[in-house]
Amino acid sequence: MSHKQKIVTIDGPSGVGKSTISRRVAQALSFTYLDTGAMYRAVGLKLKEAGLDLDDESALRTCLDSVRLDLLPAEEENDDVGVVLDGRDVSREIRSPEMSMIASRVSALPVVREKLTHMQQELGKKGEIVAEGRDTGTVVFPLAAWKFYLDADPEVRMQRRAKQLREKGESVDEQELLAMIVKRDRDDQARSIAPLCKAKDALVIDTGVLTIDEVTRAMLKVIG
Ligand code: DC
Repeated sequence: MSHKQKIVTIDGPSGVGKSTISRRVAQALSFTYLDTGAMYRAVGLKLKEAGLDLDDESALRTCLDSVRLDLLPAEEENDDVGVVLDGRDVSREIRSPEMSMIASRVSALPVVREKLTHMQQELGKKGEIVAEGRDTGTVVFPLAAWKFYLDADPEVRMQRRAKQLREKGESVDEQELLAMIVKRDRDDQARSIAPLCKAKDALVIDTGVLTIDEVTRAMLKVIG
């Protein structure tokens, strides 16, 4: 265990409760919560606004060279973390269903992954991190001491996401939301670099049959 990093990784598809669970685990351990999805979302917004051709690797690289990302702690217990992109607070903008799809799309680009993986590894250098995403246990922190892979039935995940969106006052088309979830899973799993998959040494938890509290407790028990 000595060569392992004092890091918890929590990967899995969208809507499994990763963010809430990660925040709670981080709080219980007094570790820093690293929402890697928020970073892909912010970069997705940057590239969208720059209107770049996503096949133009050198233009993408130049654009990403200047990106500044600051993660802000969540304001309230159930809020997502905030993100400041190049000095502008984009916390709300990056959480739309459209930005979920754009984040997934740009996350398949090698230059984007290279840049963000490096940033994430820098942030995790000192350990004491709970990293949440798709590849945190497989690629970003392969030496993390505690790895989890959360999963749940797509229909259950859709219902959870619909509830979150409704709580934010947004209207929801359940069939459309389910189709987006299934497409995003498929795209995240099918990409050639750092696809969404379980690390060999990750513990799988089905969050569809457990409450958030039960999952959090089970994870903290494993961490010890
Ligand atoms: O976790 P999220 O829904 O905020 O992530 C948005 C997208 O970002 C997700 O569909 C794929 C991408 N992502 C990734 O490729 N690797 C990560 N470690 C985190 C997110």
